[in-house]
Amino acid sequence: MHQHEHAAASPDTMTASTALPTFVEQRYADYDAEAHDVWRILFERRMTTLHDTGSQVFLEGIQRIGLEPDRVPDLADVNRRLGERTGWNAVGVGGFIPAGQFFRCLANRRFPTTLAVRPRAQLDYLPEPDIFHDVFGHVPLHSDPVFADFLQQFGAIAADATTEDETTQMARLFWFTVEFGLIREAGRVKIYGSGLISSHGDAANALGDRCDRRPFALDDVLAQPFEIDHFQDVLFVVDSFDQLFEAVETIRRRRA
Ligand SMILES: [Fe+2]
Repeated sequence: MHQHEHAAASPDTMTASTALPTFVEQRYADYDAEAHDVWRILFERRMTTLHDTGSQVFLEGIQRIGLEPDRVPDLADVNRRLGERTGWNAVGVGGFIPAGQFFRCLANRRFPTTLAVRPRAQLDYLPEPDIFHDVFGHVPLHSDPVFADFLQQFGAIAADATTEDETTQMARLFWFTVEFGLIREAGRVKIYGSGLISSHGDAANALGDRCDRRPFALDDVLAQPFEIDHFQDVLFVVDSFDQLFEAVETIRRRRA
């Protein structure tokens, strides 16, 4: 089950800092055979179903950023490909960072990424993000120009939230899109949120009978509470990523 949360869900620290976090360099030679093998198992397992259930944008994104099935990605290589397309960068961090810093990174087209590979004993359950969730789950979409613009604008607006209400609403918007979003493609509901992309159990729940899949409507999303410690009962389906970009533009206009 997907239990981790990004700093986006820690509203108390949200307005604390406008600085960027301390970035950590990926020391690629330090990944051992075990790390590459765990990556291979996770990649293989998820791709088996994602060919059918994953958004086309995600599937194309994997190719665009050059993710390999059998080795941990080298961020320098990923960023070279990503930079040419959208100017986004995946940057290493040591773990959780304050929400304000997380959003400030997004506003600068930097995606804070953990670097460790989860242990083999925790293939299916992991309380915190690892490089599989962060890079396999999140980064392929950053190669899509519309999603790339949405995420940057989201970060800018979230970093400027001033009230607790605004903070809570931005956490909900992040959760129901970036982490757990669904998209309709050629008449079928597909997954694009990283929590679904990187977790078999959450993906199966999201597409199954027990999940109430509602059309994405900004005010419904902003009013919808979520809990991180069990499968999601309610999720939202967009028709295109243009809707996400429009959503943040609407929030910006309302605040002006
Ligand atoms: Fe995530």
